[in-house]
Amino acid sequence: MAKAKVKTAYFCSNCGYEAPKWLGKCPSCQQWNTFAEEVIEKTTKSRFASGDAVAAGSSFRKTAQKAVTLKDIQVQQEKRFDAQDTELNRVLGGGIVPGSLVLIGGEPGIGKSTLMLQVALKLIALKVLYVSGEESAQQIKMRADRLHNKNNNLFVLTETDLDKVFNQVKEIQPEVLVIDSIQTLGSSLIDSAPGSISQVKDCTGELMRFAKETNTPTFIIGHINKDGNIAGPKVLEHMVDTVLQFEGDRHLSYRILRTIKNRFGSTSELGIYEMRNDGLREVNNPSEVLISQREEELSGVAIGATLEGNRPLLIETQALASPSTYGTPQRATTGFDNKRLQMLIAVLEKRGGYRLSMRDVFLNIAGGVKVQDPALDLAVAASMVSSFEEIAIPPHICFAAEIGLGGEIRAVTHVESRIAEAEKMGFSTIYVSKFGLKGIDFKKYGIQIRAFGKLEDIFQDLFQ
Ligand code: TYD
Ligand code: MG
Repeated sequence: MAKAKVKTAYFCSNCGYEAPKWLGKCPSCQQWNTFAEEVIEKTTKSRFASGDAVAAGSSFRKTAQKAVTLKDIQVQQEKRFDAQDTELNRVLGGGIVPGSLVLIGGEPGIGKSTLMLQVALKLIALKVLYVSGEESAQQIKMRADRLHNKNNNLFVLTETDLDKVFNQVKEIQPEVLVIDSIQTLGSSLIDSAPGSISQVKDCTGELMRFAKETNTPTFIIGHINKDGNIAGPKVLEHMVDTVLQFEGDRHLSYRILRTIKNRFGSTSELGIYEMRNDGLREVNNPSEVLISQREEELSGVAIGATLEGNRPLLIETQALASPSTYGTPQRATTGFDNKRLQMLIAVLEKRGGYRLSMRDVFLNIAGGVKVQDPALDLAVAASMVSSFEEIAIPPHICFAAEIGLGGEIRAVTHVESRIAEAEKMGFSTIYVSKFGLKGIDFKKYGIQIRAFGKLEDIFQDLFQ
């Protein structure tokens, strides 16, 4: 291809905003010093499309659309493929949507390639093309052998040039396409290096067009940088239909697949896996794994009945309140909001008379999960008081309530599904707010429901 005059543009490395000249502050995301120059040479032709479509520019717009009234639009029942993986089906909102572009983000080494290869192997009935720019064909084969799923129909391509990928796609005509990873993919039509913003943006755009025009579900793996953003532009998140995030502590075996964005379903869904020697195992009963097995009763441990999306989860909180050796006591948390912890400490101090201001307080949510559900408040407070008083909470008790600044116990959403989950998991008592219980038939539960309106009353009931 004869190279035309080199064109450059400046891109914000945070949000992908494009400007013709360098700017100190991004007008889009307001970040300073994020602009970098990149050589671009744009082409409007779509690389996978057939000849005539290419001549007409992007074949995406080849038929002119007419405006129609809402009542004339026919809704077709969305057909979805079964991903053969209950956790993935759940986070996608009920299966793989044809023509959807799904981005799977996560830190390096968390298990994105393993997850996608495993899914590709399980889709035996479909023709799947797995494109890897990260590993050799041998490495992929070795990994597939480790996963014990036989699928001789899986096509593997090790390629980093988008145009060559599309050549193969045209030949093989896959029913599902997996790209590992978007940061290794580059187009020879753009001069900048793979992984740069213009490459990532352009390749994603082409893959989007491919997915929509051929109705082929496409999964792209993307690495996450230190700030927790998908490396390169946030723009990527705007372009795709669904963003899933694969997270967890690399030293622990549990992994969480979380929906960040979904055009075809709810964004509060959660899938849980366990990383084993032979791949990722779906964890269908997460409460079981999020509560640690212990033989003796320990002070500072309390179980909260939380809800992630529509999924009730029983989560263990552990607190340690030890005498502070410095003037300013330390507060450290993992998996829980630090500000919320400070607030709960202040409430316990003022309303409960617990002198936590003289103590260092450490709080852990077991299993490496991050929890935002306010219903965990009561469990967190109970674990702190248990550690402070050095009285263990019996293991068959759990909690589900929010705590207000006045020390009041507030109602939480979906209290019934929390109660039902606690009962299912074998708990015999659950502490909840006395508000918001109207219409609940207590008799149908075998679990004892203890409802209170004030923090002091709960602790009186619990520790006396
Ligand atoms: P990988 O999928 O390569 O991570 P990513 O693509 O997100 O960078 O997974 C890397 C880790 O997973 C690696 O440290 C080894 C571990 N692993 C297992 O524990 N069991 C397995 O069956 C496989 C395939 C990998
Ligand atoms: Mg990988």
